Amino acid sequence: MKRLIIGSWRWLDDRLGISALIGPSLKHLVPHDARWWYVFGSATLVAFIVQVVTGVALAFSYASSSSQAYETLQFITNEAPFGRFLRGMHYFGASAMVLMVGAHMAQTFLFGSYKYPREMNWTTGVLLLAFTIVMGFTGQLLRWDQTAAWSVVVAAEQAGRVPFIGDFLAQFILGGTTIGGATLSRFFAIHVFIMPALIFLFIGIHLMLVLRHGIAEPPVAGMVVEPATYRAEYEERMHKTGRPFYPEGAWRDFVFGTGVLVVIALLSYFVGPPKLDAPPDPSVLNADPRPDWYLLWAFALLALIPPEVEGYVMILTPVIIGIVLLAAPILNNRGERAPSRRPWSIAVVLLSVILIGSLWIAGANSPWSPNFDPQPLPEKIVGATSGPVFTGAKLFRDKGCLNCHLIHGYGGRRGPDLTYIGDQLAESDIVIRIVNGGVNMPAFGNSLKPDELAQITAFLQSRKRPIRPQDQPPMAQN
Ligand code: HEC
Repeated sequence: MKRLIIGSWRWLDDRLGISALIGPSLKHLVPHDARWWYVFGSATLVAFIVQVVTGVALAFSYASSSSQAYETLQFITNEAPFGRFLRGMHYFGASAMVLMVGAHMAQTFLFGSYKYPREMNWTTGVLLLAFTIVMGFTGQLLRWDQTAAWSVVVAAEQAGRVPFIGDFLAQFILGGTTIGGATLSRFFAIHVFIMPALIFLFIGIHLMLVLRHGIAEPPVAGMVVEPATYRAEYEERMHKTGRPFYPEGAWRDFVFGTGVLVVIALLSYFVGPPKLDAPPDPSVLNADPRPDWYLLWAFALLALIPPEVEGYVMILTPVIIGIVLLAAPILNNRGERAPSRRPWSIAVVLLSVILIGSLWIAGANSPWSPNFDPQPLPEKIVGATSGPVFTGAKLFRDKGCLNCHLIHGYGGRRGPDLTYIGDQLAESDIVIRIVNGGVNMPAFGNSLKPDELAQITAFLQSRKRPIRPQDQPPMAQN
């Protein structure tokens, strides 16, 4: 039996040349001091493999049609065996991939590994980063719920404001003039065919380049990269002190990659995939929800840009970031690699982290976004258990007012806080506002019956500052 297996392997290997292909890659020499800093690239690959496996599994049950997508996902989440876990793996796998790409980029940048002769390693890496972001953006729509659909509508609206090519961009994103089945089919094709194919191709090139140029050694201050002599020096050092990648270097990749896998699995099991909210409803026009966390900062940036310059900023920022990233290794491919001799590189990484972090926090708190799942108002705040004020409070939530307005800290922050609106506006002004709407407030004239309007108005009129002295806020002491 053993002889048969070994014999068959020899036969196959001779005809296919497997070990001739893999062997040298496993045995290629890596710097002896390439330690834990070097694990992020392989961890990104691990996360990508998780995405391929779970993505294919999801595709077995998912239907990319606008009438079925939401239901098939409900089925996957609630009924299919391991379906919830699978969706979780795909979500946290995506998160891990974004984080690992970021860490890998920061590390290669800090270590100056993008310098000669590894310029194209960096360039292909930048393209892989862009592909990863497109995957995140297109994947979110496949959830085909309210949040997903509106994130894309917001993106298309924003793209539409780009000067000159805005209309074209918006139509390209939506696959037409409004979001619908065509948008979903388009995003599905990009998400499961085009981008994965590009990512496979570029990971292949990226890895080939890693083998071709070898892994950059941890930088040492004073050891400069001089293109004329670098290769010979690197060869020589590898022959003196290099170690074969397998097993000396590979075990760290293996340990860290397994760790990433375990964390993804634990989060998927205990936290689970993002909740599906309501199916998309094209008639709810006044929403702009937030995207998944790894795109939240970009969303915050777009929301915070002043509207007058928005179109230009929107098109120029990614173009400039892309050009800077692609040009960095070409303009600056020699000299010191050590971060201690390139303090600005540390500053760039820190600044990027701070900038993305604060945008992220702004996005997470995004006061400009409605709250899609407001808590009902407690009885103590409503102050009535029957009658028009009570019914009005119920309608205030059911008609979506609470999604945008705060009452004593309950609700959303898209519109003004209405906690004390009864002190501020007269009955007629309240009615006018509800019927006619305003900037970012829909007009409710057609969707409320007269008695409903009266009840909501009664509720809002009852929103007054308490008059009993013990309820009043403490006076400032002079
Ligand atoms: C999509 C978010 C949104 C929804 C839904 C919404 N509002 Fe508003 N509302 C706003 C915004 C934004 C303003 C400020 C409009 C302006 O100043 O032109 C506003 C203003 C108001 C005002 C005037 C407040 C003031 O201080 O001047 C009242 C009253 C009001 N809304 C009541 C309601 C009621 C009642 C409903 C439900 C029937 C409702 N809103 C639903 C966003 C919303």
